[in-house]
Amino acid sequence: MPTPGLRAFPSSANTRPPTGGFVDRTAGGDRTFPCDDTVRAEETTLALTTTYTLPRGAHRRLDAMVEGLIRNPGAMIKASEVEAFTRTSSFAPAFDKLPAAMSADDFIGALKLAMLTESATETYAVTIEERATTYDSPWLGRFIRDLWVPDEDLHHAPYRAMLMSAGIAEGELDREIADVRAKMLDYRSGDTPVHLTAYGMIQEYVTDNWHGLLGRSLRESVPAAAHLANRIKQRETLHTIWYRDMTALQVEANPRLLKHVAEAAAFFEMPGKSLVPHLEPNVPRWLDLLDNDFDRWAKEITRLLHQVCGDTKRSGELIVRVVEARGTKVGPLPPRLVRAVFDRLGPHGYGLLGEALLERAGLGYLFRDRRQTESGRAASLPSRLRGMVRRWVADQIDLGMRPTEHVEPEPAAPPAASAPASTVAARA
Ligand SMILES: [Fe+2]
Ligand SMILES: [Fe+2]
Repeated sequence: MPTPGLRAFPSSANTRPPTGGFVDRTAGGDRTFPCDDTVRAEETTLALTTTYTLPRGAHRRLDAMVEGLIRNPGAMIKASEVEAFTRTSSFAPAFDKLPAAMSADDFIGALKLAMLTESATETYAVTIEERATTYDSPWLGRFIRDLWVPDEDLHHAPYRAMLMSAGIAEGELDREIADVRAKMLDYRSGDTPVHLTAYGMIQEYVTDNWHGLLGRSLRESVPAAAHLANRIKQRETLHTIWYRDMTALQVEANPRLLKHVAEAAAFFEMPGKSLVPHLEPNVPRWLDLLDNDFDRWAKEITRLLHQVCGDTKRSGELIVRVVEARGTKVGPLPPRLVRAVFDRLGPHGYGLLGEALLERAGLGYLFRDRRQTESGRAASLPSRLRGMVRRWVADQIDLGMRPTEHVEPEPAAPPAASAPASTVAARA
């Protein structure tokens, strides 16, 4: 078992959100605004305390990426697909083959979580657009308004149709949807575009996973419903990749933005906590009942972050920065001291840590293991020693993907504001 000394990723809510910075690209250069926590952008409520700078060429590449995606978005969910389900299928058989130990109420709750968090597209869009404008990043605003919003528009509809077929009144569902749409999103994972795209990448992956679990649970009982859940899952997979690529491009253009990616990962929290607080505390238990594979989850999120970083050196730096952002210790050592040591060790130190992270997540094949040379002979002593240290470090890393606290909410009562939060819920 790994020790908790080097917790790579969060499994509970943060209390210290990062705020954004401000760059001006309108005056012919890549100027970074001198920001401090007393500065506020006009017409927004965003506090600006950190910086976000990209070369002009990177903005052009992001513009081109978004335009390409808009030209070829793939097959979005169509209203006719939902109508066909409503016309031809009954959801009742789902309750004859529920996942083991899952009650009908739990299953309805899991479906409602998907429906409600998918209903808040406009809330997410406004949150992101406001920041895209603040940071003079029209590519992000165009991505959200002209691609992501239309794509997400009907993701709640299949679950609404399933729940209606299960006997829940249309008026009740629409009231719940309206309530969620009226709520404010408590977003705390950083305001710059790279914070947002990194957050979006993780969030879309978790959502993709949730739709996949629901689809799998319906595969035998109501194949038409499983097909719809998997159609949504396909879209979330694309969204994950889109956000990953936008994040990677920004980090490649300005490696200092890795700090912001680390903040987004460190303070990650699913929006279900603020939008559906009456359902979200059930998510850890529902994940277990739906037989979620937490190891695969950790592996895939680590893979995404590594792809954003581009190499093991940056992946190693990322993990130190995540721990630092969370303010947790590395064994007995404060994370700032650890980072100072690794900065002195240079790329070799971070590279070893990045390799250890990949090895811990089951992705060791992504770097060359030098225990043996390509000809099959034993590797050199330094190489073998390096491997021993790497494996020891890997054993210290806790990827922190499994929610550890199961909160049993009072029936029909919202949880206390201080209730521990999970990082997982479905959305968007
Ligand atoms: Fe999505
Ligand atoms: Fe969605």
